[in-house]
Amino acid sequence: MKFNNENNLALAVDGVSKYFGNKKPDGFMALNDVDMEIGKNKITAIIGSNGAGKTTLFNIISGFLRPDTGQIIYQPNGNAYVLNQLPAHRIGRLGVGRLFQDSHLFPNLSIMDNMIIAGKVSSTEGLLNSILKRAAVKTENKEREEQALNLFKTVFGEEDDPFSNRKDHYANTLSFGQQRLLAILRLFIGQYELLLLDEPTAGVNVEVIKKMVEIIKGMPQKGYTVLLIEHNWEFVLEVADFCYFLDEGEVAAFGTPADVLGNRKVRERYLGR
Ligand SMILES: Nc1ncnc2c1ncn2[C@@H]1O[C@H](COP(=O)(O)OP(=O)(O)O)[C@@H](O)[C@H]1O
Ligand SMILES: [Mg+2]
Repeated sequence: MKFNNENNLALAVDGVSKYFGNKKPDGFMALNDVDMEIGKNKITAIIGSNGAGKTTLFNIISGFLRPDTGQIIYQPNGNAYVLNQLPAHRIGRLGVGRLFQDSHLFPNLSIMDNMIIAGKVSSTEGLLNSILKRAAVKTENKEREEQALNLFKTVFGEEDDPFSNRKDHYANTLSFGQQRLLAILRLFIGQYELLLLDEPTAGVNVEVIKKMVEIIKGMPQKGYTVLLIEHNWEFVLEVADFCYFLDEGEVAAFGTPADVLGNRKVRERYLGR
């Protein structure tokens, strides 16, 4: 793929392959020559069965894994960066935020402290606890708390806010769905432009999913570009502008979500009908 240098692309995945174990012929090819173009301020979904290579691609974009071939080009505000040459912490600082398949909250910090530390250098809970208590950062933390409370208010209104009134409770007192929701809201506190969301709705109840639809659909208006791994195809139809179907490490279909989910091959391979 020739990289399209137009301003409307936030990210390009260009010929990315990843082997695990030995190289061919014994190694396992998790990604095979994957090309994707991720539109700026759009929501792009990646669908595909378990083991298709979706999370591996996120790990490569985040800098946790290096591809064997290909490049990841990221273009925030007019600049261009080759992410596969940068360490993970720089990629984070360039504005790439991630919702992990497991939430990565700090269970023994309060709900509010989980919001406050979002965007700070992540480390052990003990160290973070001492960071949170240092006088020098108290003012900054106060501002972040204000920001978090405002965010909760915008998202939930005055009623049914699961976080504000319980902001000093441990994060592990929240239900699973609420923890996922908190992990998503933390992304707004960090300084991010591109959000990688790995299966936000997995294991989450219908009420919380409705809230997630609202929040994720609103991300482009707030200036975010979203790349979303998701198994819930109703959710994909509802929120995504564009969709890639990964099948055993290869892009097997792409287009609007309706086109991809209507594709015969996708229906047979993925939906089983
Ligand atoms: N670190 C690793 N070492 C070896 N194999 C891996 C590793 N990470 C993922 N895999 C394998 O690569 C394939 C793709 O995994 P993954 O990207 O997690 O799939 P998905 O997120 O689409 O379910 C799977 O078969 C998985 O077992
Ligand atoms: Mg996965």
